[in-house]
Amino acid sequence: MGSPLRLWHPFTNSALDPAPIPIERAEGVWLYPKGGRRIIDAISSWWVNLHGHANPRIATAVAEQARKMEHVIFAGFTHESAERLAEGLREWVSPRLTHLFFSDDGSTAVEVALKIAVQHFSNAGRPEKKEIVALEHGYHGDTAGAMSVSDDSPFTDAFRSMRFPVHRVPSPYTYRRPAGTAPEEFLEDCIRQLASLLEEKSESVSCLILEPLVQAAGGMIVYPAEYLQKARELCAKHDVLLIADEVLTGFGRTGKMFACDLAGAVPDLMCLSKGITGGFLPMGVTLCTDRVEAAFRSENRMHTFYHGHSYTGNALACAAANASLQIFEEEPVFERIAAISKINGERLREVEKFSVVGETRQIGTIGAIELRADDAGYLSAMRPKLYQFFLERGVLLRPLGNVIYVLPPYVISGDELHQVYDVIEEAVETLF
Ligand SMILES: Cc1ncc(COP(=O)(O)O)c(C=O)c1O
Repeated sequence: MGSPLRLWHPFTNSALDPAPIPIERAEGVWLYPKGGRRIIDAISSWWVNLHGHANPRIATAVAEQARKMEHVIFAGFTHESAERLAEGLREWVSPRLTHLFFSDDGSTAVEVALKIAVQHFSNAGRPEKKEIVALEHGYHGDTAGAMSVSDDSPFTDAFRSMRFPVHRVPSPYTYRRPAGTAPEEFLEDCIRQLASLLEEKSESVSCLILEPLVQAAGGMIVYPAEYLQKARELCAKHDVLLIADEVLTGFGRTGKMFACDLAGAVPDLMCLSKGITGGFLPMGVTLCTDRVEAAFRSENRMHTFYHGHSYTGNALACAAANASLQIFEEEPVFERIAAISKINGERLREVEKFSVVGETRQIGTIGAIELRADDAGYLSAMRPKLYQFFLERGVLLRPLGNVIYVLPPYVISGDELHQVYDVIEEAVETLF
């Protein structure tokens, strides 16, 4: 017998990073490693967990589904859990979004949206409308298409040859605006640049993809709703499909069920994943309007959307998603979200007194602190120091370079959240 296979962990350099911590069990916001200590999961395990780890209602729903039917091919077949999920989401998403296509995770939900947008115009007899517009600082996943629409970063550096070209427009990241420009002026300039690109390229552009209101992995950049509203108007004006990547922002993160709701903007396509199953199982969903799907309803077989993953519409993932939606309906989830939001606001204001803090940002359950750094960005030397400091104090936070952020499961108590902020304050006060 050879030695066991070595596990290769994501976003981890085995020569530089500490050995992974084995977790034996998890409950609520707590992770329990071997040996008796416990760690608060203040980032919802990469932004997926909503109602707490090992949530008993979701666990039961998944177990019951597993005993009945674990999975069935979704081409030519359907099942009750998928149909129920379509009904359940109907209550939450705009009535203008009429169709739901399943995939496996956030990246594939994005791939599906991009492919639908491009084929929509091809089916409609306008194959020249195939180019894509995306934002600076955007992040949409790690598969080739999702990487292409994501901005250049250490994550994409080695893969330049694999990324297709996109039109890149400035992000309304007001903190990092050109010197001497007021935030409002900068915002207007970002909108102007988007407007002129769409005006100039309306014959060749199929879609604009963006993360609504929060550019997450790009640094938890919270931007004004006005940008999203203007983007919506401009896309409509130039017959460009607006893809809202709500993979992170969906399911209450920003205080409303979807970030687009906060801006009163209805996209043509919407990508969901992460929180959709409450953090239990991987699932991606792409929603679109009837007009978008209509181009695929055709006597011409070549107009079919030839895309599908083996686990499309997986019944266990659907059961988890249904249980999560039931929790939204039956438990005071939005009260929990409001309580987190209030504490985020209070504690972020307090932390602003430290000179190393450049800016704090908040939207709903997301709180972010951008530290002043000469090496700002994901590879900032601040990141490993902060990560280790937090872990030693029993808090899981994974700063995005020089940006510390809090993004907890909604069941975190006030005391637990204060504990997270106490540790952040200690780090900000003592480390730099
Ligand atoms: C906005 C956004 N889109 C897409 C993705 C990719 O999702 P996944 O990691 O599930 O492929 C992420 C992941 O962080 C994300 O934040």
